[in-house]
Amino acid sequence: MSPEILHTPTFVSDAVALITGEAEKAIAARGIFRIALSGGNTPRPVYEALAGLGLPWDKWEITFSDERCVPPDNDQSNFRMARIAWFDPARVPGGSILRMEGEADPPAAAEKYEKELLSRSSPYVHDLILLGMGDDGHTASLFPGTGALHVTDRLVVANYVPKFSTHRLTFTYPLLNAARHVCFLVSSPGKEAVLKEVLTGNPAYPSASVAPADGHVTWLLGGGA
Ligand code: 6PG
Repeated sequence: MSPEILHTPTFVSDAVALITGEAEKAIAARGIFRIALSGGNTPRPVYEALAGLGLPWDKWEITFSDERCVPPDNDQSNFRMARIAWFDPARVPGGSILRMEGEADPPAAAEKYEKELLSRSSPYVHDLILLGMGDDGHTASLFPGTGALHVTDRLVVANYVPKFSTHRLTFTYPLLNAARHVCFLVSSPGKEAVLKEVLTGNPAYPSASVAPADGHVTWLLGGGA
């Protein structure tokens, strides 16, 4: 199925509507909503808007599509960003949040997270995965030229990223492409040329290879995107 591409002047409210719509469907169908969060800057206002909605967070199972290898209180932590923007103000119960242990040994943390997912459901199928896209076409922590791009037998790995001289924890394509719905959230300017390459399926850009076998992809493009 071809991706749905939505340009919107109301990026945050449209993202919130998409997320809450998927949550309602999933909870009605299966009693639980499995959502993966993206990191970076773009999703912060979306998480802040979700915080004010008083939804049944105990029926949400919140995972992270990637994490920096830093402690949870480090300002680079994707978990910390979501905790401050959403979890704390909304009092999301800890049992609904599956944090990647960025502070731990990367391969061990990746293995532990994969085991945690599979202990809850096997196969693990997200109802919705939120992703961002970097200006090099990366998504989650699947960066061009890195080893994790070629992993087919794992769901979560530690990926060494030379451009940052560090490891990251990341979902692999098998887990991303098992999702029912993937939504890319892109709202910062300067990504137009890369976005064009990704949307034409250029495999040099990792975001282009997100294509759920039994799911669909939405690109929600706001601001300058
Ligand atoms: C991360 C993200 C990463 C991010 C893109 C876009 O940990 O940084 O998961 O994949 O989504 O780099 O980041 P911005 O939203 O800040 O442009």
